[in-house]
Amino acid sequence: MKNSLRFAVFASGYGGNLQAIIKAVKSKQIKAKLALVFSDKPAAYALVRAKKAKIATVCISPKDYTSREEFDRVVIEQLKEHQIDYVVLAGYMRLLSPYFIKTYNKRIINIHPSLLPAFKGTHAIKDAFDFGVKVTGVTVHYVVEEMDAGEIIAQEAVVLKKTDTLKTLETKIHKIEHQIYPMVIARLIR
Ligand code: GRF
Repeated sequence: MKNSLRFAVFASGYGGNLQAIIKAVKSKQIKAKLALVFSDKPAAYALVRAKKAKIATVCISPKDYTSREEFDRVVIEQLKEHQIDYVVLAGYMRLLSPYFIKTYNKRIINIHPSLLPAFKGTHAIKDAFDFGVKVTGVTVHYVVEEMDAGEIIAQEAVVLKKTDTLKTLETKIHKIEHQIYPMVIARLIR
């Protein structure tokens, strides 16, 4: 019998958000079990972070699969095996198939480094900076089939100073991400 909710973090890269989530689980800010870290990239530093924290990891490369759904079906088998209730995307660079989204309907969330619906896509911080915005920010949202289009759960603004560079803006955004994401997860998963 399971006695606490179990969630998985999906990450393709550095895993800064994953690290903040691991910290929040350890401190019991998040009262659920981070039962699995999944990656589609064998070289993802997020996997190293998970192993250091003694969290189970699974890495499956999409290269061996012919369709998005075929890949996602194998991923979901792993989620079932680890009895995962919620999926938290943190820098996961693949679109989920409709099959995946139906299976975990309203139980998949993502963090995006802009104030959605502005600056969707993979270069949101740079796109906002290049556009010359005075305010940008961070959004946590439910995942639906269309990229970065799901219902917004939480947002926080970041005001740009004249002296900000792309680098300083990135640092500010990531700092906010590492605060807001654990807070939202703590609220949703309990
Ligand atoms: C974050 O900026 C997140 O908003 C976006 O991808 C980045 C992942 O960074 N979806 P990290 O791997 O968590 O450090």
